[in-house]
Amino acid sequence: MDRRTFLAASALGAGSLALGCSRDAAAPQGVEISLDAQLSDVDLGGGVTVRTWTWNGVVPGPEIRVQRGQTLRATVVNSLPAPTTTHWHGLAIPNNMDGVPVLTQDAIAPNASFTYEFQVPDAGTYWAHSHVGTQADRGLYAPLIITDPEDGADYDDELVLVLDDWIDGTGGPSGVTDPDQVLAALKATGMHAMEPGTGVTPTTPLGSDGGDVTYPYFLVNGRVSTDPQIVDYTAGQRIRLRIVNAGSDTAFRVAIPDTTMTVTHTDGYPTEPTPASSVLLGMGERADAIVTVDRSVPVVAVPEGKPGHALLNIRVDGKPTPAADSVVDTIRREIPLDTATLHATADVALPGRAPDLSLDLRLGGPVNGYTWPINGILYDPPNNGLEVAEGQRVRLRLVNETMMFHPIHLHGHTFEVVGPDGPLARKDTVLVAPMATVEVDFDAVNPGKWITHCHNTYHLEAGMGTFVAYVG
Ligand code: C2O
Ligand code: CU
Repeated sequence: MDRRTFLAASALGAGSLALGCSRDAAAPQGVEISLDAQLSDVDLGGGVTVRTWTWNGVVPGPEIRVQRGQTLRATVVNSLPAPTTTHWHGLAIPNNMDGVPVLTQDAIAPNASFTYEFQVPDAGTYWAHSHVGTQADRGLYAPLIITDPEDGADYDDELVLVLDDWIDGTGGPSGVTDPDQVLAALKATGMHAMEPGTGVTPTTPLGSDGGDVTYPYFLVNGRVSTDPQIVDYTAGQRIRLRIVNAGSDTAFRVAIPDTTMTVTHTDGYPTEPTPASSVLLGMGERADAIVTVDRSVPVVAVPEGKPGHALLNIRVDGKPTPAADSVVDTIRREIPLDTATLHATADVALPGRAPDLSLDLRLGGPVNGYTWPINGILYDPPNNGLEVAEGQRVRLRLVNETMMFHPIHLHGHTFEVVGPDGPLARKDTVLVAPMATVEVDFDAVNPGKWITHCHNTYHLEAGMGTFVAYVG
């Protein structure tokens, strides 16, 4: 399928999801969707079926594809036994559409619905997920692709890869292992049991602690590695990979054996094209990369510090794809690209300017059993915000005083990573390795109350969040 056909096909797909188009001929065309949050039985392949919470019965949720500048109107219908919301990860949209309970809206009660409506400001690879409790570790997430007719990108087809760590509904015959029970167990026992070894000496850019939760499965596009999705191409095609880490407690290294990926974007924003043999993505992070396929190859996502892997098979000219198992150890021994070290393209770099305000976020924990404070306090909205004023250039100093890595995410803005020799990538989520400090700058141009938090679902639930509040 060439790119034009793909876009036409995806437009048809969006059509089947859409309930209508723009209601006003003068307004830019819009996309209208419905996300029905519901209890579903989902087939993850390989004989694994789980009862979980989904949007529209599928994991990942239906791909949402909108053109930059269009209006997205998304009605979330809550058929769950608990309140829920939808957050549009990475989008700089009005605060009241951000989907964060207490800070930006009341959570949507069971049997109620809420309509999110906003113009999408920036092209790129984004995603949506529930922002209530541990719901992001169920099936309540979907890729959100913002296209740009003018991006002039040079590729034949797109391949969206949504990575996840999966436990929900896998707890044996009773099938009741849900993320709330996982959190309760973490709180009861303090820390997790050691992960079984992976049998190799890996490189450890994020330290030796891979996470707090032991997952039975790692998924690409909702499929277990023993029964992966297969995607067909013809030799010589250039494929744009759009990779999303939707995991809750797992960073992944993504690689294609003996294939150089040219990384072109992170967190939606363009970077100077950079070759990489593997890319490291923390929870919430994204990368886009171009690859030329000339033979059948697996795309492998190796969980950092945890045994196992996730997989999608690229099949070229109908030839079988070689098994991935033997390449997993090789990937573990390599040094993966950290997307924070990429350089933003000139058109999206922040104008050079000294910060008006510098705020420290000291990441701590675990303390008192299983809590993860920032600056010694636990997330407690709407209390304890960090004040900023509109128009300021704000520096966040992310100071990791723990032995674990934390992907730190800021809502409503795309910051710029401060490098030792000058500015680096524009991002909305950045990995902070154990005992490391990462500095990021953003321009305070989107008033509201914006949560900034660790994108480990369990760390956030155990307190690792705060928010910036525009004052004055
Ligand atoms: Cu991906 Cu607070 O969100
Ligand atoms: Cu964390």
